[in-house]
Amino acid sequence: MTAPDRTVDRHTTRWSSYLRDCGTLVGFVEPQQVSGRITRVAGLVMECVGLKLAVGSACTIPMPNGARVEAEVVGFDGDRLFLMPQSDVEGIVPGTKVLPVEATLPRPGTVPHPRRRPSDRARHLPVGMGLLGRVVDGAGRPLDGLGPLLTEDSGPINVRPANPLDRAPIVETLDVGIRAINAMLTVGRGQRLGLFAGSGVGKSVLLGMMARFTKADVVVVGLIGERGREVKEFIEHILGPEGLARAAVVAAPADTPPLMRLQGAAYTTAIAEHFRDQGKNVLMIMDSLTRYAMAQREIALAIGEPPATKGYPPSVFAKLPVLVERAGNGLVGGGSITAFYTVLTEGDDQQDPIADSARAILDGHFVLNRRLAEAGHYPAIDIEQSISRAMHTITTTAHQHAARRLKQLYSRFERSRDLITVGAYAHGTDPVLDQAIALNDKIEAFLCQEITDNVGMPQSLAELTSLFS
Ligand SMILES: Nc1ncnc2c1ncn2[C@@H]1O[C@H](COP(=O)(O)OP(=O)(O)OP(=O)(O)O)[C@@H](O)[C@H]1O
Ligand SMILES: [Mg+2]
Repeated sequence: MTAPDRTVDRHTTRWSSYLRDCGTLVGFVEPQQVSGRITRVAGLVMECVGLKLAVGSACTIPMPNGARVEAEVVGFDGDRLFLMPQSDVEGIVPGTKVLPVEATLPRPGTVPHPRRRPSDRARHLPVGMGLLGRVVDGAGRPLDGLGPLLTEDSGPINVRPANPLDRAPIVETLDVGIRAINAMLTVGRGQRLGLFAGSGVGKSVLLGMMARFTKADVVVVGLIGERGREVKEFIEHILGPEGLARAAVVAAPADTPPLMRLQGAAYTTAIAEHFRDQGKNVLMIMDSLTRYAMAQREIALAIGEPPATKGYPPSVFAKLPVLVERAGNGLVGGGSITAFYTVLTEGDDQQDPIADSARAILDGHFVLNRRLAEAGHYPAIDIEQSISRAMHTITTTAHQHAARRLKQLYSRFERSRDLITVGAYAHGTDPVLDQAIALNDKIEAFLCQEITDNVGMPQSLAELTSLFS
């Protein structure tokens, strides 16, 4: 061996040993953890100093009792951050530590999501086939006692909607198994619809029927802000075992903090998006959009945003389209999310600001009428007030003519109902009304449907045409 070779060898050995020592020492180093402190808790909002985080970032609060509370930055004032907890904060003391949840860095070899913000990486929840037949809360924790979720994937819960110009248009009809909807208010694959109704007029039953009968690959149900008792009833009695088998249910009932209810809605949409991105046709049901808006109102008012319309701050009206726009068709040739959002119309007031705003951002609205429900006419869909905006592009002219004819006769009968019932109408005065009276019983029977009956699209159309033949 020559002299220069020996020098290189010594040099390498020295460096290797130095680097090995460094490696060992790194193991002793305590990672520096930035933290803040809670200075104020007032109602729903907590204030924290000492952290500089973006709005929407996640943090963890180790509680004195050993539990950990997840929270989100919902606003700031100077150097004070406003945090909203995801669960109960009873037991918190002044000065409790706040730790930011660091976004995990993408691993080498993974393809970053095309529409993901860096901050979204912090909040990933389980998505995928393992959720079918399961009931989870807004944070992806199982509520059904069937053990841990066997999901292969996780996804960010807040994703920006796809570019509208890249989306496939609504061209195909979707069979929802309800005669009145298939025939009179045909739904298109990828359409987003509102179900407008007051309380107790049959929303849940109708949604349950659609969840069981719709020709979709998977169903994703979000029960947001409803009564806890109703969650159980919906899953056990209305959805039933056959409905649940192909459904993923996210439940964030009224007693959960508002942030959890918002997250529940975002998570429901994220699950549906994951299935859609795999090319599946998804039916998404969200009950209710109004409670989602109310959760956002609670948060916005708590951090000092001024109320505008009927106590709703402006941010509520900005949040609704952000959620709704995520549903719909995917890229051309891909899957779809057909979505139904229930909208509560308190006291059957169709002018409620949320109802108004929802009507403007959705592709149609189905109104459930209390008068019909009270008369035992179920599903209580008011075909005069309801509209499916995609219907004229996806149905044949003959179908449209028949539907319009039925609507005209129904409407004519309804307007003259009082005259007819008191016997003030003389037969033969108005030929259209005569036909309406003659067909009224058949039309009523056509629009009603038993909870257990599944009426497919071909049968619905055949029955519609046979009314006039
Ligand atoms: N298709 C139907 N056939 C027979 N009865 C029905 C039908 N749909 C609804 N009902 C009746 O209406 C009742 C109320 O329905 P549902 O619970 O779906 O109303 P809701 O609008 O969801 O009420 P809430 O506002 O309390 O959530 C049901 O208990 C049932 O008796
Ligand atoms: Mg209900």
